[in-house]
Amino acid sequence: MDNRPIGVFDSGLGGLSAVRAILKLLPNEDIIYFGDTQRVPYGSRSEKTIEQYARQDIEFLEQFDCKLILAACGTVSSVAKNAAKCAKEPFIGVVSPAVKAAAEATKNGKIGVMGTWATINSGAYDREIKKYSPGYKTFGVCCPVLVSLVENNWIDDDDSITREIIKRYLAPLLSEGVDTIILGCTHFPHLAPIIQQEAGAGVSLIDTGREAVLEVKEILRRQKMENSAGHSGKIRYYISDKTQNFCMIAKTLLGVDISENVTFREISEKS
Ligand code: DGL
Repeated sequence: MDNRPIGVFDSGLGGLSAVRAILKLLPNEDIIYFGDTQRVPYGSRSEKTIEQYARQDIEFLEQFDCKLILAACGTVSSVAKNAAKCAKEPFIGVVSPAVKAAAEATKNGKIGVMGTWATINSGAYDREIKKYSPGYKTFGVCCPVLVSLVENNWIDDDDSITREIIKRYLAPLLSEGVDTIILGCTHFPHLAPIIQQEAGAGVSLIDTGREAVLEVKEILRRQKMENSAGHSGKIRYYISDKTQNFCMIAKTLLGVDISENVTFREISEKS
């Protein structure tokens, strides 16, 4: 048994798709969430910058004595290999759990990946998928605008502009005949209902945040690191800039008002 919190981070609101899964799958766990709202988006930045941000995010979470850190960010998970190695505690990214789920879901071996520029250009999902079967084909599409849509709460089913943008990003994947799409950025599960409608019921969507949390659950079980049964998990949120919309959009995404639990904390630029 280990009653320390799980550290979770992302550039902004995307990682809340993982928080949503933790609330459901690991209700006894305490969470420290860090959203780097000062520096979102990460996905259009260079490898060097993403490495630096990831290292600082991990250092920030380490002050809370976390038992495990989850990079609930496809961009960090794909690009920041060195930062991941520096973490003192078990460190989980979203790429390999998502790929495992996609490899199980696909029937025709054609897998689409929607992600940020940095994620798609890194080829991380593609490399990981090839480990399952060299015959699997991946088709990546950079979808940076979807990050802004989520950060601005343009996620409603009836938002025709959001729908048109999604259609445009999906078109090359659907024309290749993919039967599975990895939502390779944790912001994208927040748009899953529209993506599913536009992709069609025959396409399986993989929620990276949820798959990573399933992996975390398995690690905690195997290593006997779960929180005490009966403990009701608490979440503390830290953001690096006082954005007014964080609490408002988080309420839409999580269905609960988190404003009492959010603290503004500037991120150290030292490292
Ligand atoms: N949610 C992140 C990801 O999974 C980051 C998006 C961004 O900041 O560009 O890639």
